[in-house]
Amino acid sequence: MHKTILITGATSGLGLALAQRLSTQPGLHLVLPVRNAQRAEQLRAALPHASLSTPLLDLARLDSVRSFAPQLSAPLDAVMFNAGVQSADAVIRTADGLEQSFAVNHLSHHVLLRALEPLLQPDAIVGWTASGTHDPKDRVAKNFGFLGAHYLAPEALAQGQYASAPNAAQINRDAYASSKGLNVLSARHFAARELGQRRYFSYDPGLMAGTGLAREQGVLVNLVWKYVMPVVSKMLKGTSTPQGSAQLLARILLGQHALPNGAYVEFSGTQNPPYLPAQESIYTEQLMAFSDRYIFA
Ligand SMILES: NC(=O)c1ccc[n+]([C@@H]2O[C@H](COP(=O)([O-])OP(=O)(O)OC[C@H]3O[C@@H](n4cnc5c(N)ncnc54)[C@H](OP(=O)(O)O)[C@@H]3O)[C@@H](O)[C@H]2O)c1
Repeated sequence: MHKTILITGATSGLGLALAQRLSTQPGLHLVLPVRNAQRAEQLRAALPHASLSTPLLDLARLDSVRSFAPQLSAPLDAVMFNAGVQSADAVIRTADGLEQSFAVNHLSHHVLLRALEPLLQPDAIVGWTASGTHDPKDRVAKNFGFLGAHYLAPEALAQGQYASAPNAAQINRDAYASSKGLNVLSARHFAARELGQRRYFSYDPGLMAGTGLAREQGVLVNLVWKYVMPVVSKMLKGTSTPQGSAQLLARILLGQHALPNGAYVEFSGTQNPPYLPAQESIYTEQLMAFSDRYIFA
């Protein structure tokens, strides 16, 4: 088997656990984009037996995203858009003037997918790491103050304009949950327009306490997230670990676990109905048209 799989956000958390799991597969080459040379070095040390390349990519900069794809040449058998950020108490804008979680979690992955399309194998598998936080009914997410995705006009999402949020912390929770809703919509959109054999899915890894996702929170929250929550979460239903959630994800990307095209699947294998906008196809067309504008902008 000679396959190539590209994973964004493989330097920590779920992405690293996934890369570690895949690195034991014979004949598999991993393309693991990183933000800088230091991250590349750390990743190579963590994956001593992998066949891998670590090209530079900063998803918070559209110029970096646009110049990334032309550096690649190998056909891709699978791509996992896994990198993600969650802001804390201040709304953060990227160098392009966009709200950070919209830019990194949705828009840059969209622009990247468009650029990678010519490199995808005819039967390629493409996934997005979404999150239960996009669903306003998700009980675990509610406990952390998430209210679900807000399917606002793309222009408002891009600017982080959540009029109902009372403060920056809630704007950031809304922006994160919304970006994860857009991940679900993206998988469903590309699946719906697929005429060939490519497969698209979105993945809910469950709550995985202790990952780097809380890095923008204060010291105390980080300590609780890293050292207390991994113990407490073992007692909560619907929670996981990076290693646990990487198991099914690896099988999906290797083509060993088939899914209906466009599926939203949880780490347990359950396919829960995702939370969608009232008029999904109209909304998603607008979102895609808006996002496509950034391919060359
Ligand atoms: N942890 C959870 O409970 C949970 C639950 C549901 C969904 N998720 C989703 O799971 C995915 C992985 O998150 P995680 O929990 O494993 O968090 P993590 O440990 O913080 O991993 C995030 C990854 O994204 C990368 N990344 C962030 N910003 C980037 C940028 N501008 N350019 C390139 N790479 C960037 C990070 O790279 P650096 O090392 O360079 O920062 C890191 O490799 C995310 O999409 C997250 O939304 C997590």
